[in-house]
Order: sequence, then structure tokens, then C-alpha cells
Amino acid sequence: MPNIVVVGTQWGDEGKGKVVDLLAPHVNVVARFAGGNNAGHTVVAGREKYVLHTIPSGILHPGCRCVIGCGVVVDPGSLIEEMEALVRRGVQLDGNLFISKNAHLIMPYHPALDLASEAKLGDRRIGTTGKGVGPAYVDKAGRVGIRMADLLNERLFREKLERNVAQKNRVLREIYDAETFTVEEILDKYLRYAGWLAPYITDTALLLSRWIDSGYSVMFEGAQATMLDIDHGTYPYITSSSTTAGGASTGTGVPPTKIHGVVGVSKAYTTRVGGGPFPTELSGTLADLLLARGHEYGATTGRPRRCGWFDAVVGRYAVRINGLDTVALTKLDVLDTLETVKVCTAYLHRGEILTEFPEDETVVAEAQPVYEELEGWRAPTVGARNEADLPAKARRYIERLEELVGVPFCLISTGAQREETILCEDSPLLRWFPSARSSLL
Ligand code: GDP
Ligand code: IMO
Ligand code: MG
Repeated sequence: MPNIVVVGTQWGDEGKGKVVDLLAPHVNVVARFAGGNNAGHTVVAGREKYVLHTIPSGILHPGCRCVIGCGVVVDPGSLIEEMEALVRRGVQLDGNLFISKNAHLIMPYHPALDLASEAKLGDRRIGTTGKGVGPAYVDKAGRVGIRMADLLNERLFREKLERNVAQKNRVLREIYDAETFTVEEILDKYLRYAGWLAPYITDTALLLSRWIDSGYSVMFEGAQATMLDIDHGTYPYITSSSTTAGGASTGTGVPPTKIHGVVGVSKAYTTRVGGGPFPTELSGTLADLLLARGHEYGATTGRPRRCGWFDAVVGRYAVRINGLDTVALTKLDVLDTLETVKVCTAYLHRGEILTEFPEDETVVAEAQPVYEELEGWRAPTVGARNEADLPAKARRYIERLEELVGVPFCLISTGAQREETILCEDSPLLRWFPSARSSLL
């Protein structure tokens, strides 16, 4: 049975939640492998809207098991809130949710350090979500992090907590002039969380291995996106985890040899939240139009997203870094009213045309987009059931993006609802999920 990775190809919020939810009935397991509650994955099912932060987007399907892998950092308070909200809405978690023993915990001092560091950076701030994700990964890499399994061992948890609180308090007090923490207040709170979460904490790498051996199919749900990856993104304006396809392996313990394909999710234009370079960024009325028609406000922080044209240099880079087999294109409908649409085909930097995404951050910051202009279709795309139903000029736009990015598209999304999705002809998804032809929607 195929094991497939789904990743964002831009700067996040491409509609990964919608795509994962749509494909979840075709797999047995959905596993998150990176990030934490900085993510906001929206799933719309009829009149119901769910925004998932740490829980995988397969959770709305009763037969789908959901794993929070070792590559994820977990804020237990936020996770429990999310779990309770889902249970109140009738979602079954027991028997369906599994949390890795090796996943690192976001501790109360992590958001405090995140916010203090951002404040100190001033104009150079990253524009983080303030959830403490960066500092939690700092501790993980620094080998002082506290993990899920530690929650289940009070003595060890206290010991690690005491060491961390002493060190973090010094940093908070002496470097940032910020509030400090006491061991007892954290211990009390986290031991209560431990009682709540204990039934879900397990060796998920072993579980996944056994499931795969028994013929289960796993979908790996990426958070954030290629351009926010710690190694491959627009450093330092990135998140702190491996958000690209390779992270699916390290972030779950499933070896690369057991992964069969990678799906990228791309918006028909581009958005970015927070600071950092964004070559195709727009301002003025066009940016306002995309913001308004696309409801481009962060699902986690509510911040308005920066908006710009589709960037095929980024698209090709995502294909290369993730080994994408195919792309699911979302939010085509947002462009429905435009007279013309532009696509960035290359960058111009100091007289030189660049067709590959530059690794040098100063080059990215100075790069000017080279645009190709296409006629807009000025007709609604919502409700189209197949590609032939789309306006000819919309089809031309999609074909051009496919050519420029270099892999076939598998899905075209024209609205937030599950039904507002077109399965492309010869969709590469059918190779892995043949039943999707008759039952995707
Ligand atoms: P994710 O983080 O990649 O899961 O994406 P987000 O949930 O943060 O942002 C995507 C937003 O676009 C959500 O509000 C979705 O409900 C919405 N959405 C997804 N696909 C489409 C689409 O094709 N058209 C429109 N108009 N909205 C969409
Ligand atoms: P999903 O999974 C968009 C951005 C933040 C900031 C940078 C670092 O919903 O696509 P962090 O809090 O991670 O240290 O912030 O990364 N960022 C996201 N942008 N979508 C996300 O997640 C993001 N998660 C983090 O805005 O620029
Ligand atoms: Mg999001």
C-alpha cells in the first residue's frame, strides 16, 4: 500500500489541510512529521469548519488513525484544548490518536523566549507565530529538551525541568529583562497534562512500522512549507524544523525506502505571513483583492498574509527539493475576477537571469521577478466538476503553471469545500489510489 507525503511548496497556508482531509479516506493513517501549533490547517466539511494545529487533518474520518510524530513539537496545553474541542464536536479520538514518546514538549518558557527574542530583534524580527516553536527546537538540538516520554516519569521530568528553568530564567532575566518561571507552577500544570495525555503517548515509530508491514497505507502531513524549511527555506526567515519531504522520514521514523511518492500543495498565487524575502509580493489594490477574495488571514494568528503572484522559480525549487511527483493546485477561484494574471518565470539579479532559486539570501532579497502575463478568464470556476468545465483561459493558466513547474497536476481546488475540487485527467494520484477516480469527492 502506498505511503505518500503531502508538503507545502511555498511559504505555508497552501491548503494542505483540505488536501489531506480529502485524501484521508484512501489511507489508513495520517502522520504529522514537523512543526507544532504554529501550523493552522483548515478543513471545511459542509457547514463545519475545523482549524487543526497539532492534530493531523485525517482526524475527521473515523477509520483514519492519526499520529503526531517525533519531529513535531507539542504544546500539551494547546493540544488538550484542541482535543477537547474536537470531542465536543463529536470526533472520536480514543483509538485514533497516537503521540510519539520522542516528540519534544513546548514548555511555558519557550513562548516567553520566542516573544522576547522577537522584541529584541526589532526590524529584523522573523514574525514568528509566538508559539515557542523555535526555542523548543533549539532545546531539542541543544540536547536539553524535554520529551513526551519524560511526562510519564515524574522524577525525570522534575530533574530536567529544574535544570531548564534555572537556565532559562537567567536568560529571560539577564538578557531580555522578562518575567521568569517557577518549577512548581510548571510541574503542577504539566503533571495534570500528563494524566490527560498518557493514554495517547506511545512508540509511534514502532507502530507505524508494524502498520506498514501489515499493509496499511500512510499519508505524511507536512506543516509549514518548503520555503520555511530550516535548511532549504529562506533562512533566517524560516521555521525551525525540516518541513520538506525528507522530514517525513526523520520526523516519524519511517525509512525513506518505505515512502512511495510526494504531493506538493501550491496556491494559484503566493502568500507569506511574517518577515523575509518574497520576490513576487504585490502591494496596493491587487494585493488587497487577493487578501479579500482569498480570506488571507492566518489560521493561527489572524495576521493578514502578504500576497503576490505565482512564482514558478519557487515551484521548480519545491519539485527539486521534495522530489514532487505531482502538485495539487488550490484557490484558483480567487483569481476569477482578474483581467490579467502574471506568473514569475525567472528572477533578474544585477543583469543576470536566474532560473534556479538562489541559495544566497542577499540575492533572494534583491531578485526582481521576470513575469509572463496571461489573460484572465473573468468567469467563476467554483462548481466545475472536471477540467473541461473550466473556462479555456483558466485551463491555459493551469497548463502554463504545469509546464513551468515541470510536474503534472493532480487536483485543482476551486473552493474551501471538499466538493469544490477537480480530479485532473490522468491524475498521478490514481497511480496510488485507483479508487479515487470514482470516490474522491
Ligand atoms: P494549510 O495551512 O496549508 O492547511 O492552509 P490554511 O488552512 O492555513 O489556509 C488555506 C485557506 O484556504 C483555508 O481557509 C481553506 O479553507 C481555504 N481554501 C483551501 N482551498 C481553497 C480553494 O480552493 N479556494 C478557496 N477560496 N479557499 C480555499
Ligand atoms: P501552516 O502549516 C504560514 C511562519 C511564521 C514566521 C515563520 C517562523 O499552516 O502552513 P515560527 O512560529 O514557526 O517560529 O515562525 O514561519 N509560519 C507559517 N506561515 N503557515 C504556517 O503553517 C506557518 N508556520 C510558521 O509566520 O514567518
Ligand atoms: Mg495554515
